[in-house]
Amino acid sequence: MSILRLRRIRNLTLLFCVITFTMILFSYSLWDPSLLFSKHALHPKRPCSCRHCLTDLDDDPWNADHFNRSIHPLMTRENSVLSEETFKWWQSLQSGMKPANYSEVVEELFQVIPDEVLYMDARPERCRTCSVVGNSGNLKGSEYGDLIDSSKFIFRMNMAPTSGFEEDVGTRTTHHFLYPESAIDLDNNTRLVLIPYKTLDLQWLISALTTGTIKHTYLPVVPRIKANRDKVLIYNPTFFKYVYDSWLEGHGRYPSTGFLSLVLALHICDEVSVFGFGADQSGSWHHYWENNNMKHTGVHDGDYEHNITMLLVEKHKIKMFHGT
Ligand code: C5P
Repeated sequence: MSILRLRRIRNLTLLFCVITFTMILFSYSLWDPSLLFSKHALHPKRPCSCRHCLTDLDDDPWNADHFNRSIHPLMTRENSVLSEETFKWWQSLQSGMKPANYSEVVEELFQVIPDEVLYMDARPERCRTCSVVGNSGNLKGSEYGDLIDSSKFIFRMNMAPTSGFEEDVGTRTTHHFLYPESAIDLDNNTRLVLIPYKTLDLQWLISALTTGTIKHTYLPVVPRIKANRDKVLIYNPTFFKYVYDSWLEGHGRYPSTGFLSLVLALHICDEVSVFGFGADQSGSWHHYWENNNMKHTGVHDGDYEHNITMLLVEKHKIKMFHGT
């Protein structure tokens, strides 16, 4: 074969390869032009439209061991029925008070608040960005306010104030996670997310939104709370146990409010940014708005929660902002 002929064959092969590759890229770009330039260029079926999707690479064995996406994070009438094992575990968290009839209380609760299935609407066009804001003193002087406020969902928790701390913590709150002993008043646009540790917490919520008769659980509690009752949500006890078993593998007595909020975010958001997590030098959970003399991390295993949170960062599931 002449050299000229060999060269022609080589050039034609090269041309064929270039055309084929270009056609593949072009067909992807018709689906979503931005993909042409993203790291997902060769994976056209992306689960969301954010720059990073939390469910990307969900089939990694570590993810498969931890995530159980079949459990709904929020309580509905339908999923409120608890297995015997879950009910026993949940009732043991803050035992000591004579429990009322759980299913009767749930029925009464859903006469006061809506019974809806929310947020389970993941789809390729959705980009739900979430900021989970813990209460750490590392927020002081961080100037994260605008960054936090730029998310679609902003989760805060317990006694966290924004007023007076806007520059560091932002102004918006879409969801506020609390329990009776940590309750504060909320504005009309914020969703109250109750984390119930016992049946009495569900009764307290009914009371706090209506008659104001319950004033004491194992501590004095606020009898009434300002919150939009059409926006109230309840953390599902079955999900609570799943967080403890699958994510914390039984470390600590039960997960902290921050960790419970974070795992909920992992289930309903496409992109999660985490702020205000991190103990002080003595390993205690200090707050950005007060000098609390918190003794270590109470009933929670702060170190274990921190390690899992950092693994989530390593696995590109969440972005962590460490503050000051
Ligand atoms: O102290 P509190 O429980 O109200 O804080 C909310 C959550 O923020 C905690 O449950 C914990 O997960 C997180 N936190 C933290 N480091 C701190 C303070 C709070 O990680 N210094």
